[in-house]
Amino acid sequence: MPDAPATTPELNGLRTAGSPVLSVIVPCYNERPNVAPMIDKLRTALAGIDWEVIYVDDNSPDGTSAAVREIARQDSRVRCIRRVGRRGLASAVIEGALSSSADYVAVIDGDLQHDETRLPLMLDALRSGRYDLVVASRHVEGGDNAGLANAWRHYLSDGGIKLAQWFLPVKLTDPMSGFFMLPRPLFEELAKALNGQGFKILLDLVLSSPEPLRVQEVPAGFRERVAGESKLDALVMMQFGGLLLDKIFGGILPLRFFSFALVGALGVIVHLVVLILLRKLTPMSFETEQTIATLIAMVFNFQLNNQITYRDQRLKGPRLWRGLLLFMIVCGVGAIANIGIANSLYLQNTQWTIAGAIGAVIGVVWNYAVSSTLVWRAR
Ligand code: GDD
Ligand code: MN
Repeated sequence: MPDAPATTPELNGLRTAGSPVLSVIVPCYNERPNVAPMIDKLRTALAGIDWEVIYVDDNSPDGTSAAVREIARQDSRVRCIRRVGRRGLASAVIEGALSSSADYVAVIDGDLQHDETRLPLMLDALRSGRYDLVVASRHVEGGDNAGLANAWRHYLSDGGIKLAQWFLPVKLTDPMSGFFMLPRPLFEELAKALNGQGFKILLDLVLSSPEPLRVQEVPAGFRERVAGESKLDALVMMQFGGLLLDKIFGGILPLRFFSFALVGALGVIVHLVVLILLRKLTPMSFETEQTIATLIAMVFNFQLNNQITYRDQRLKGPRLWRGLLLFMIVCGVGAIANIGIANSLYLQNTQWTIAGAIGAVIGVVWNYAVSSTLVWRAR
């Protein structure tokens, strides 16, 4: 990685006006009660530093954006990006950081769980030019993890860390940390390679750098959440698994495809369970039962894809119903292709297992390709 970032004007006296030294990026969703206290804490912690704070709010129903703007009208160091129709911590961080022109960007949670008094120390470390990235760690001497909601969260967190460490090119005791700082030009350089899904933006940054980053870890506590609630759930953990897969396979196959295929596999299980139940409990013909099972599995798959695979462009309201109909048509055609191809291979003396598998793969690829362009219109 480059030594001291080329654009660190305050180091060589080129700074004229405008952009501050440090942009603090705060991704937030439903954090209204935490906004004012957080900005107060930043004011105290960053006294003597030329800073700004950029909230990135995904149109929180609790009116987080409005709370930020109210303060912004009094204090020009406070900015707000309000995103509509999108959700996601990582992508919020990316957009916030890319909107900055400061020398350095820091990322910190908006729920007061991170210890903002660490920020000046982190900035000093970067300004020394010896590091590309400073991470506030709960797992180095002096840091702690007390604020994690429960034992389950500790388990998830520790497990995730172990898993991540296998792949990491640099030593990070807290690769899941949501609190870190780096030179803004470096962020811009890495931005193209970022995956942007899920929670693990730090991990993504570290894995996206062509050369190992020089990382400094500073101990930091993790406070308990006072207001609002955590957004980290099972879906987020699945996205984390997806991020690792994506990095391992080097983007050969799009991450969404894995998710789509996994949902498809679950759909097969749902189909079989429904079919078995119908066989046992009703006197209908096999054909009717098979049809019902197929329809239920399709609705199930659609829902799961809408919740997970296409979480960031989730369909709602009338678009949901239109999407479902389209999805069923697309998958219906996929099924016909699947059966047709498998059957013709089988008739040409291909082993039935291979014929079946080829048919299924072609079906999945078709379903994926068409639904991500027609149903969810992937960019
Ligand atoms: N814009 C936006 N969009 N912000 C979001 C979203 C989203 O979809 N989801 C969460 N956030 C914001 C929250 O409002 C909060 O400011 C911050 O991101 C962290 O989210 P929390 O929901 O509070 O996460 P957590 O406390 O469970 O997890 C923290 O600890 C993890 C390690 O255990 C975070 O710091 C994680 O980054 C960290 O990995
Ligand atoms: Mn939190």
